[in-house]
Amino acid sequence: MPLPYSEKVMEHFRNPRNVGRIEDADAKSVEGSPACGDMVAVYLKVDPESLRIDDIKFESYGCASNIATGSIITELAKGKTLEEAKNITWKQASEELGGLPPIKTHCSVLAVDGLRGAIENYEERHGLVKERVPTTVEVVRKRLKRVMNPMVGLDLVRTKVVKDIELSDGTVRVVIGLPADHQFAANIREEIMEKIEPLWDVEKVIVEFAE
Ligand code: FES
Repeated sequence: MPLPYSEKVMEHFRNPRNVGRIEDADAKSVEGSPACGDMVAVYLKVDPESLRIDDIKFESYGCASNIATGSIITELAKGKTLEEAKNITWKQASEELGGLPPIKTHCSVLAVDGLRGAIENYEERHGLVKERVPTTVEVVRKRLKRVMNPMVGLDLVRTKVVKDIELSDGTVRVVIGLPADHQFAANIREEIMEKIEPLWDVEKVIVEFAE
């Protein structure tokens, strides 16, 4: 049975706006969904004076709902300030699209998380984080939940490959229970660095592989 997608969802799915990557992006975020293993990446170009989103693009490895939501939220976010764009919700995205099947809620949440993650990434990289909460092991673990284990399409924490997280004097050490020569080791290391390095009080990230 075909899913009851609205006309607007189908239109955005067939002709998604703002698809692609921005090579010299000021910020980016890659979010994965534990529910289905799909991913979405959001890239931003931001005017440093007005903090307006000059350009925004997304890449989706998700379903029609995810692509349509990525399309609509990037349209909504373009030209807005970061503060304004933070207020874009999945409910708003879903309403703009004329509704999404309830089973597909996580797909639009994923796209909105991508936008929020990219804004957060900009703020962290540009010293704009207002609430400077000290990084804890829990903060690091939460971020690692947003890194996929490419072998199974679920995050690193759920798949129990994170063996240890240590924090001392601005250095974060993450131990991954895979061999150092694993085919995805370099990829996993890179994703961990991307998620942890921008934290305001983190100076160094060490990723070790130990099985
Ligand atoms: Fe994975 Fe929709 S089913 S993004």
